[in-house]
Amino acid sequence: MKNIRIGIIGFGTVGRGVVKNLQRNLAVFRRHFGVPVELAKIADKDLKTDRGINIPQGMLISDAEEIVNDKSIDIVVELIGGIEPAMSLIKKALSNGKSVVTANKALLAEKGEELFKHAGLHNREIFFEASVGGGIPIIKGLREGLAANRIFSIYAIINGTTNYILSRMKEEKISFKDALKSAKDEGYAEADPRLDISGMDSAHKIVLLSSIASGKWIKLNEVYSEGIEKVDQIDIEYAKELGFVIKLLAVYKEKNNAIEVRVNPTMVGDKGMLAAVTGAYNAILLEGDFVGNILYYGLGAGEKPTASAVVSDILDISRNIISGKSRPFIPDFPNREKKIIGIGEIRSKYYFRFTVLDRTGVLSKIAGVLGDNKISISSVIQKGRNKGNAVPIVVLTHKAYERDMRDAIDIIDKMDVTKGKTVVYRVGGF
Ligand code: HSE
Repeated sequence: MKNIRIGIIGFGTVGRGVVKNLQRNLAVFRRHFGVPVELAKIADKDLKTDRGINIPQGMLISDAEEIVNDKSIDIVVELIGGIEPAMSLIKKALSNGKSVVTANKALLAEKGEELFKHAGLHNREIFFEASVGGGIPIIKGLREGLAANRIFSIYAIINGTTNYILSRMKEEKISFKDALKSAKDEGYAEADPRLDISGMDSAHKIVLLSSIASGKWIKLNEVYSEGIEKVDQIDIEYAKELGFVIKLLAVYKEKNNAIEVRVNPTMVGDKGMLAAVTGAYNAILLEGDFVGNILYYGLGAGEKPTASAVVSDILDISRNIISGKSRPFIPDFPNREKKIIGIGEIRSKYYFRFTVLDRTGVLSKIAGVLGDNKISISSVIQKGRNKGNAVPIVVLTHKAYERDMRDAIDIIDKMDVTKGKTVVYRVGGF
């Protein structure tokens, strides 16, 4: 049997992990799966840095075009990230009859529909296990293990950097800035950490999970997204007192063909499964109509876990090449009945921290505005007294519509007794 030849584009952290794995485990793959994989070429602009791995003379080249145009290469592994030149290289590889493995969530979230069409046109595959959840096999989980289910909900912690930052802020009471620095030092953050912090990296990933779960391409601009930049130590502490932990959650829900997809910091119950996910770990909690609740948990970033996912795709495609079959990944039938709902239409419990004058009657005014907007209060705490000056008042609500919540907060923030912008968190049990 002819060897399946692999070309890797991008020899950074993940690329190094993939090469290490292939060097160590090739014999195992041959023995266990009958797959004769061979590392053919690696392209990277940086030929100088010592990656601590021995590779044969001439295997590392600087020109990625050489890989996508090499007739002897069967699978191209794109690990450079970003939109261009990744997009053009992947298209060229597919046009040249190669299948592609990528970890590039930004590219797939923005251009996935176009790229998968292109792959279909050339009867080739794009596999992307490493794009969500690092080493957690969530793409294969949704596509294969849970294929029998209608997925009702996904609650996911799918950005290691922000989870690490929030965990450190909570445990060590350190500032956002110091926690971010330490996430960068640990190598979790994206090259541009704004993608992590703004929630955009999680948005890219939930686009992919939601598209597979719903059978409809979800567009990135349909995902409501908030980051963790404004998370304040004071709310982490109030949350703790109230039995919650703040997590950056990516959420997908489907009910009666109405789909909700969003990313936002959320207060989750401190006894629930998601609260226990700390540091750079990721977790994806799903509910399917037959499987019920299921939790995937593991390292969502880093050299080895991400390489584990990339190589699993290399093996999948290799087996498909050997058997002469390809399996298009995302269905090509837009599910027209399903509609994305706007953020105003979602329903949630809320946490509010009002900054208001400590004066008789203020609380009843706030309660009045909330009541007028169909928001029912479940508990209230006022910390300390500061007569005539501003104090924080924390309110938890029962479920309400987001649009009603926003109308109420607009009114409250304009009242003359209000001395600061109201802080709002969505609250969930899980
Ligand atoms: N920056 C990403 C994270 C890396 O922190 O999760 C993996 O996609």
